[in-house]
Formats: sequence, C-alpha cells, structure tokens
Amino acid sequence: MSNPSLLILPGDGIGQEVMAEVRRVIDWFGAKRDLAFDVSEDLVGGAAYDAHGTPLHDDTMAKAQEVDAVLLGAVGGPKYDDLDFSVKPERGLLRLRKEMDLFANLRPAQCFDALADFSSLKKDIVAGLDIMIVRELTSGVYFGEPRGIHTEDNMRVGVNTQRYTEAEIERGARAAFDLAMKRDKKLCSMEKANVMESGILWRDVVTEVSKDYPEVELSHMYADNGAMQLVRAPKQFDVIYTDNLFGDILSDCAAMLTGSLGMLPSASLGAPMANGRPKAMYEPVHGSAPDIAGQGKANPIACILSFAMALRYSFDEGADATRLETAIEKVLADGVRTGDLLGDADTTPVSTSGMTDAILAA
Ligand code: NAI
Ligand code: MG
Repeated sequence: MSNPSLLILPGDGIGQEVMAEVRRVIDWFGAKRDLAFDVSEDLVGGAAYDAHGTPLHDDTMAKAQEVDAVLLGAVGGPKYDDLDFSVKPERGLLRLRKEMDLFANLRPAQCFDALADFSSLKKDIVAGLDIMIVRELTSGVYFGEPRGIHTEDNMRVGVNTQRYTEAEIERGARAAFDLAMKRDKKLCSMEKANVMESGILWRDVVTEVSKDYPEVELSHMYADNGAMQLVRAPKQFDVIYTDNLFGDILSDCAAMLTGSLGMLPSASLGAPMANGRPKAMYEPVHGSAPDIAGQGKANPIACILSFAMALRYSFDEGADATRLETAIEKVLADGVRTGDLLGDADTTPVSTSGMTDAILAA
C-alpha cells in the first residue's frame, strides 16, 4: 500500500518558517516511527499571487482534493493589503475550505501546565483544561441569503441572514458526537433557542442525533451563558458544538484561556472520502505575523500541534499524536521558550528551529 499523502501549503510570512519545522517533524516520524508520508508542497496566499496572479491556482485546488490531508501555514501580509478583494491572500484559504466543503472546524483549547501563568484567568481555573469547540464552518449567518447593504426610505440597511438546514446541523453534530466518543463523552450544544428559530431547530436536530450516541451525555446552553461559563469554569466542558457565528467568537474566547496564539492548532473536516478518511485541512490559528517574520522568532508549536491533530483525525495515529503532544509538554515543563512564551521571565528565548530541536530530542 502506498503511503498516506500530505499537501503542504506554507503560505506567507511565518507560515513558511513554522511549516519548515513541521517538515522536520514529519521526517522524524518517517525515520524513527516508520510512519512515512508522501509529501508535496505548493503555494497559497500572497506567495501564489506573486507566482500566478491568484491566491490559489486551480492545479493546487485539484491537488488539495486528492490528498489525504492538507497542512496550511498562514497567509497574508502588508505587501498584499491593497490588492483587490477577489485576489486577496485570504481568498485562497476560503476557496480551500469551501471547495473541500470543510464543515466542521475543530478548535481545541488546551492548557499546558507549564504555561498556566499565561492565562488571563487564575491558574487553578485553567490548569489541566482540555476542551474542544466544534464550530459549523460552511453555513449560517456568514453565508445566508439575502445579504447586502441597500437603501430603504433614504436610509442604508445592512442585512445578513442566519439560515441552517437540518442536514447542515446534523452533519456537524455527528462530527461533534464522534469526537465526544473519543474523549470524555460529554457534549454541550450552544445556540440561542430562546430568541432564534434557527436555534430552536439546532436544539431539535442535535437532540435527535444524540439518540445514536446514548453513551454521550448531552446538554444544551444558550450561547451567551456559554460565554460566561467559559470564563467562569471552563473545565466543566469537554466538547462544545455551536454554529458558525457563535463558534467564531466562543472559540477565540476559549483559545485565550490558554495563553499564546503561537500554541493554538485547528482542524477543519469534511465528509469521508472513498478511503474512509475525512476531507481535512490542518492549520495553526495564528496569521503570518509580519512583525516577526523572517527573524527565526516564530513559535512552531501551533503548527506542530496541527500536524498532531492530522495524525489523530486523518491517520488514526492517536498514539503518535500523543507522543508528539507529550514531547511538547515536556520541553515546556523544562522551561524551553520561544519569545512569545517568555512573559516576565528573564530566560533567553530559543529560535523557531531551536524549539523543534528540543521537541524532537524529547
Ligand atoms: P497574527 O496572528 O499574524 O499576529 C498577531 C500577533 O501574534 C503578532 O504580534 C505576532 O507576532 C504574534 N504571533 C502570531 N503567531 C505567532 C507565533 N507562531 N509565534 C510567535 N508570535 C506569534 O495576526 P495579525 O497580525 O492580525 O495578522 C497578520 C497577517 O496575517 C494579516 O495579513 C492577516 O490577514 C493574516 N492572518 C492570516 C490568518 C490565516 O492565514 N489563517 C489568520 C489571521 C491573520
Ligand atoms: Mg475569529
């Protein structure tokens, strides 16, 4: 059987730097764990625009549809800020998500003990935190019609529409329940069924789906209460399933409970392919960080943890994902820090590649 395939799209700025480190990690797994991948690399974002005049070439899009998983770095930068909307670097990313139909966005919020002091919350509230937010990514108010700005009675009116079909709610719910089965078997669904019809439908459909997952303890929460609970007592949650808009906000909120942007991975999953693996793209949450790009200062952990998610969710290599996460936990406990993780400490930061050296050694 041939090796599983990976398409690597480093993108711009520190995307290129952190992805170079992920390639070292991939090579390590090939050499030490006999877990080899067929890796190809291509352009996305500003880099693709520079080469082809488009943020994602059709050939790259076609490759992304064929591989077992896509790993993306980050896109954008000041150089591209004045480009027309249709060719902006972000459009490359949006096209990938849309054409691969990646409807379930997985955003873990995990607090490494060694970094608990970085949280804006008290240490005991976040130490040991490990939750997963599943955000519906391809529908809801960011996509619903009608939309636009028009004039009524000489006044401008801005319109967006929240619209969800049963099928859209259901497929995301199944992804969330499947995850809960692999974790602590607890799922909290968040909407605003008190004031939104789409929320009433959401609650109904999630409750229906839960009948197929009798082992998972399901609860429902209004999303505004959810926001309060996330900062009051985040450890009460295991998996949270919510819509595109609430998920956008709640996942950013949860992420910051854990400290630095340089630590946050994500996965976006779609329907199963012929080989049973889900369509999948893995990427760090952070952007291209023009302020530190090219200086060897970027923290590669968010991108390396994204690869760990690929091991777990695309390749059923949960043990190897844990191996990688444990190594990261160890180097952090040993005090190895990139600049973004220093805070007030007066240790000398390691470089981007220095962090990877330590992780591979561990
Ligand atoms: P950003 O995430 O690139 O940076 C925000 C701050 O966090 C900066 O001070 C940066 O130095 C720091 N930071 C981010 N990742 C880091 C890492 N791995 N290690 C150490 N420090 C890190 O967000 P910003 O500055 O708002 O956007 C910069 C560019 O990135 C823009 O062009 C924006 O459009 C793009 N962007 C792209 C995203 C993507 O590709 N998914 C997501 C967010 C922004
Ligand atoms: Mg956001």
